Amino acid sequence: MSRKVRLAHPEIPEGALALVAQALRSGHLTSGEYVARLEERLSARLGGRHVILVSSGTTAALVAFHLLSDRGIERVLMPDFLFPSMASAARRVGLDVLLADIEPRLLSLPPDAIDRIPAGGRTAVLSVDQFGIPGHNPELERRTASIGLPWFEDAACALGSRDDAGSACATRSTVAILSFHPRKTLTTAEGGAVVTSDPDLAARARMLRNLGVAGQGTDRRFEMAGYNARMSELHAAVGLAQEAVLDELLERRRRIGRLYLERLDHLATHPDLPPGLSVPAGFRHPGSNFQSLVILLPASVSRHDVVARLAEDGVESTLPGFSIHAQPVFADLPCIGPVEHSPRLQESGLALPLHERMEPQDVEHVVEALQRALAPGK
Ligand SMILES: Cc1ncc(COP(=O)(O)O)c(C=O)c1O
Repeated sequence: MSRKVRLAHPEIPEGALALVAQALRSGHLTSGEYVARLEERLSARLGGRHVILVSSGTTAALVAFHLLSDRGIERVLMPDFLFPSMASAARRVGLDVLLADIEPRLLSLPPDAIDRIPAGGRTAVLSVDQFGIPGHNPELERRTASIGLPWFEDAACALGSRDDAGSACATRSTVAILSFHPRKTLTTAEGGAVVTSDPDLAARARMLRNLGVAGQGTDRRFEMAGYNARMSELHAAVGLAQEAVLDELLERRRRIGRLYLERLDHLATHPDLPPGLSVPAGFRHPGSNFQSLVILLPASVSRHDVVARLAEDGVESTLPGFSIHAQPVFADLPCIGPVEHSPRLQESGLALPLHERMEPQDVEHVVEALQRALAPGK
């Protein structure tokens, strides 16, 4: 039987079971000490930023966009290659969405997109740390700050990544979001967080997460039209167990990621394979957490066939993500300038297995299977 390599397979430490059992026995299943402890641990990792845990990355975006809207933001400029639920969340709180192509290295917004924002309407600028590649571009930050726009960072994939300046992702922006979906570097099964250094934004995010309620005990009152966006104590207990070993999990991912890059370099120049296989340059960023690994397939091969042939060898693979304007629900969104790299990544990109449970032999198996899939019969 051939080796099976899954796209993602989170390592849940043994201790998680005991923590979940303790949380269950405590009788406090929501808004209790486990959520508070995980918030503290993540805050310590993120340079003391306020961390507000919620039920998913998309919910975190909903809360963050709501807060920006309350501050007079009317529009958000976002990269076209982005998880489409970000555009949904912006739209849900009444923000206009403006798209721009990604730049092909860091796969985030290019700085010159800022200069092309149409006049009128206060805009927030969204950058993404796609696949855990730090999408922070100092020039983008400078231009955004110079015209006084808030910077929203989609760091859903980037817990554990660091930018060029050595800053942890999610710590420099006005507001950032994290996701704890099982394909991320830390998982709570489902979960997310709002991250900010702004105490007023943090206090209002806590209120919005908890239905808009302010005050304690008999003083409680509804001050905002909020959401039930709370993370349960059981989910937080899983996250606490993972957080305790996160540095080791990240190191294991990075080892697997670096081995892939080495092996894929050989494939890219292999004389028997169709030319054009490449890995986006951002994966070589020293601060990347290797949340996932995506390659670009040669134009001459069918991704559908490659996925099917990899599956025959027990290797799971999938499309890397989405171009927002190519989604039926968002076909009407305006784009500034031509959009070329984003659709190409959606159409020719292929996400390969990468997770902390993989061994070097799994990488060899995937790369050999990919070689066979790209040139069947050779
Ligand atoms: C870049 C990015 N942003 C946002 C999200 C949404 O996060 P969630 O699935 O936790 O709602 C994801 C999820 O996969 C993502 O990859």
